[in-house]
Amino acid sequence: MSSSLETETREGLEGVVAATTRLSSVDGEAGVLLIAGFPVEDLAPVASFEEVVYLLWNGALPRPDELAAFARRMAARRALPGAALDLLRAAAGRRVPVMDALRMAAGTLSLLPGTGEDAREDGLLLVAAFPTIVASYWRLLNSEEPVEPREDLGHAASFLHLLSGEEPAAERARGVETYLNTVVDHGFNASTFTARVIVSTRSDLVSAVTGAVGALKGPLHGGAPGPALDMVFEIGSAERAEAVLRDKLARGERLMGFGHRVYRVRDPRADVLAEAAERFYKDKGDRGVYELARAVEATALRLLREHKPDRRIDTNVEFYTALLLHGLGLPTELFTPAFAIGRVAGWVAHGLEQLAHGRLIRPQSAYVGERDRRWVPVEAR
Ligand code: ACO
Repeated sequence: MSSSLETETREGLEGVVAATTRLSSVDGEAGVLLIAGFPVEDLAPVASFEEVVYLLWNGALPRPDELAAFARRMAARRALPGAALDLLRAAAGRRVPVMDALRMAAGTLSLLPGTGEDAREDGLLLVAAFPTIVASYWRLLNSEEPVEPREDLGHAASFLHLLSGEEPAAERARGVETYLNTVVDHGFNASTFTARVIVSTRSDLVSAVTGAVGALKGPLHGGAPGPALDMVFEIGSAERAEAVLRDKLARGERLMGFGHRVYRVRDPRADVLAEAAERFYKDKGDRGVYELARAVEATALRLLREHKPDRRIDTNVEFYTALLLHGLGLPTELFTPAFAIGRVAGWVAHGLEQLAHGRLIRPQSAYVGERDRRWVPVEAR
């Protein structure tokens, strides 16, 4: 039994198909991502985030009346329970990292009346509250009071409003919305898998999303864009790229924003975000940073091919996430939390799918420890 398990072991579950889904299709060889049947590049730059969430949760695009009602319901759930704000204040006093504050505050949503009874209601609440948690915490960290949520703004614009207290320009809100749509769902990535495992025990969505936030924050998953941007700034000028990157690879470091478990070609989300970033930098931002990042990318790809000739390592979503979000004026500390604000809708969608069709997720492990040990009482050891 143990030997057959050992021969079937797939470290990191690579290539294992653990469930079926109608939410997103990730073709790692062709570099194609479908969101509920739509190529991500068709949907992300034009759809509202509310439309994409509706699509994921209902399997079809909403009619105008359905969209208006859905957006209204979501906007009405932006305010946080008082205990969440108390907790965020305490966290800010200790300068807890934003993802940890988000994880802790997500759990407080169970304090709101009715949570845990209807998974769709819980999902709506989670998606609606995430921007308020992140923005309120960011303001508290910066010695500013949280802003009262407005119900008349779209989800992306509301996030920017909650951060600054000002209504954002339409193009900035569009940039954030394109980003949120681009990262909303992506197959069985580590955080989504975490959420599905939790829901598969018939646990609730607040628990699933809280666990997923913990999985997302790691640097091999959602934690990469901050370090990716730091790397671009550390390089500073295109001529230094080769020397700095060679040095990192020689030290055994990973280049953040490159490589993916599934994609063997360029991540299609990188293209969507690169296009959005280019438009933004051309119009408003610092064009120099954009040019530098493109030069760093080209050098990194060349060196990674040299470094790992047998593994196709290409640009992933995080590299252009960093560039776009920086161009939109978000601080690096908010890059991964912004990812969570988009992805939470995918976690909920997977939770609903798992509740409707899924089985308990319970794989096995191959035991490689010792056998035949004999118990020795503590005084005799
Ligand atoms: N830089 C340098 N070397 C790399 C990189 C990289 N970015 N990515 C993979 N490699 C190397 C590994 O060091 C490893 O080499 P080894 O066999 O000599 O140890 C080999 O390629 C295979 O790497 P694995 O970690 O086994 O491949 P895996 O499929 O698990 O990697 C991962 C995927 C974790 C994303 C990896 O490419 C990585 O660490 N990238 C950098 C972090 C990053 O950008 N994360 C964001 C991913 S996108 C997302 O989650 C939204």
